[in-house]
Parts: sequence; structure tokens; C-alpha cells
Amino acid sequence: MTGNGDKQAQAKTVRLGAPADTSFRGRDILSVKQFSRTDLERIFLVARNMRTAVETVGSIDLLKGRLLTAAFYEPSTRTSSSFQAAMKRLGGEVIALSGMAYSSVAKGETLEDTMRTLEAYSDVLVLRHPEKGSAARAARVTRCPVINAGDGPGEHPTQALLDMFTIEQELGRFDGIRVAMVGDLRYGRTVHSLSRLLTHFDVTLDLVSPELLRMPAHIVQELRDAGMTVNETADLESVLPHADVLYCTRVQKERFEDPSDYAKVKGAYIFDPDVMGRAKADAVLMHPFPRVDEITPAVDSDPRAAYFRQIEYGLYVRMALLAMVLGQA
Ligand code: NCD
Repeated sequence: MTGNGDKQAQAKTVRLGAPADTSFRGRDILSVKQFSRTDLERIFLVARNMRTAVETVGSIDLLKGRLLTAAFYEPSTRTSSSFQAAMKRLGGEVIALSGMAYSSVAKGETLEDTMRTLEAYSDVLVLRHPEKGSAARAARVTRCPVINAGDGPGEHPTQALLDMFTIEQELGRFDGIRVAMVGDLRYGRTVHSLSRLLTHFDVTLDLVSPELLRMPAHIVQELRDAGMTVNETADLESVLPHADVLYCTRVQKERFEDPSDYAKVKGAYIFDPDVMGRAKADAVLMHPFPRVDEITPAVDSDPRAAYFRQIEYGLYVRMALLAMVLGQA
């Protein structure tokens, strides 16, 4: 959006709501395990204010003069572009590195050396990498905040935060709801992160997957240890009538060791208007995207289909996180 005098004047008066609180300043965002319920509430508060700011003035100057470097070693559309959009709407600058295969990585440079190099130019680093634990490795050798944008089959904390924000915006509550996660719960990192964040609330979780793609047992245990009621099933029909949130995922083809296993489970669950006809009238259908064939385009016009709104909420959450780790909100 273009800025003019009026808009800029207005921008200065946009209140970010929460009083300046330095508790996030300089922090890495590596895993959802680092967040308390109070942290979540604070992030949502700032994200709601970011939404108001974008809707009223388009962008603000909160991070003017700051530089974000985004290094993506795996494909990305939404995570990469929303971090860039978030930084720019906060008045900051971005170096976006995709296709890391063409960087010095091709000459054998270690992740640690690449990250220390990028840190020399940047105030905050965003990393997506195929290895679990890669973001934590980067954080160990750098002083500026590192944000995990997906570490292989490990975690995707910022996606989980935007998923939580989506539930908050769409349903207005967490306590007492029933969430069904459907699809590839084994390799899908978004569900690994989101399920953990939901333990901060009184949520019943239904895990729906083929046997081969069940949620790792240690995560299910972790959820139960946290007091959550967790049911595992392969039968989508049995959860459809009760689910307040239907969180659908893609089968993660690229993470299968044996391609014949992928053939066995692809297309296991498909949401079409017929399936949606058996879901609750006020259910929220979410998907982190990209979708392959899990939700047919005919569902897109269903008001319960929240996945495009979910993408937009991601912008506000990432704006909030950047402002917070850089000590400006
Ligand atoms: C997800 C991811 O990369 O984990 N995409 C995203 O960030 N929105 C989901 C996926 O790839 O299936």
C-alpha cells in the first residue's frame, strides 16, 4: 500500500497496545516448547494490533533501519514471502536467500559458517532447513535472534503460532474445543508444533491418520503427560460430527524413505463438499498449505474454509514476532 502524508501521520498514532515489554527481545524462536500461555496471549495481542495497523495504514516504521535475512534451504511460498512482507510492512529491509544450493553451501560451507556470515549483515535471521535441530545449531553460533521457519520433520513454531491465532480469530475461544488433525501426522512438522501449543488450553485432540503416518509416540506421550485428552484413529468419519477445528495436512512425499510407502497413503483423506456436509455447521477448516489433493477446490467457497484467511493471519503473527524479538513491541 502506498504511503501519503495522512497515512504516515496516522501511522505514528497507531497504538501497539501492549506496553513495551522486553521479555522477547533478542530471543530465538526455535520450538513452541519455549512459549507459555501468557506468551501466547501477548503474541496474539500484538498480532491483533498489527492487523489493525495493516488494515488502517498499510505499514508502519517500527523496524526502520533493521535488516532481516531469510535463508531457505527447502522450498517455501508462504513462510518466506510472509516473513518478507512482515518485515517490509514494519519498515525494515530484507535479504531473501532461496536456492541455497547455489550459494557457498555448494562449495561445502557448513550451516554454522553460513549463519555466522549472514549474522554479520543482519539484525534477525530466519532459517528453513531440511535437518531437525538445524535452527538450534544456527542459534548456538549466532548472537542475533534466529527464527526457525521449519527444521525438516522437527518443528514449525511460527506456523503453529499463526494456526493458534487463526483459531482465536475464527472461533474466539480455545477452552472446551475439539480439534481434529488429519493426514500426515508423522512427518508434518506443523502438527507437531500446533498440538504442543494446544496443551496450554482445555482442548480434546483427535489424531486421524493411516497407521503409517501416526503422530510420533513420544509426542503423543508428551501431550498426554501435559494433561490433554488425545484419541488416535484412522477413521475420519468418526470425528467429523464433533470437530470444532479440522486441521488438514499434506502427505509429506519428500520425507518418505521408501517411495512405495507414499503410494500406499497418498490421498488417504480428501475433504470435498460431501465430507464437509457431515462436519459441524460452525467448524473451522484449516490447512497450512500447500495442498495437493486433500481439499478439493469446490470447498473453497464454503464459509468454514479458513485456509486463505489463515495465510493472512500469518502476516500479522510474523509482524508481531519480528517486532517483539527486535524489542519494539
Ligand atoms: C508447511 C511446511 O513447510 O511445513 N508449509 C508451510 O510452511 N505453510 C506444510 C507443508 O509443507 O506441508
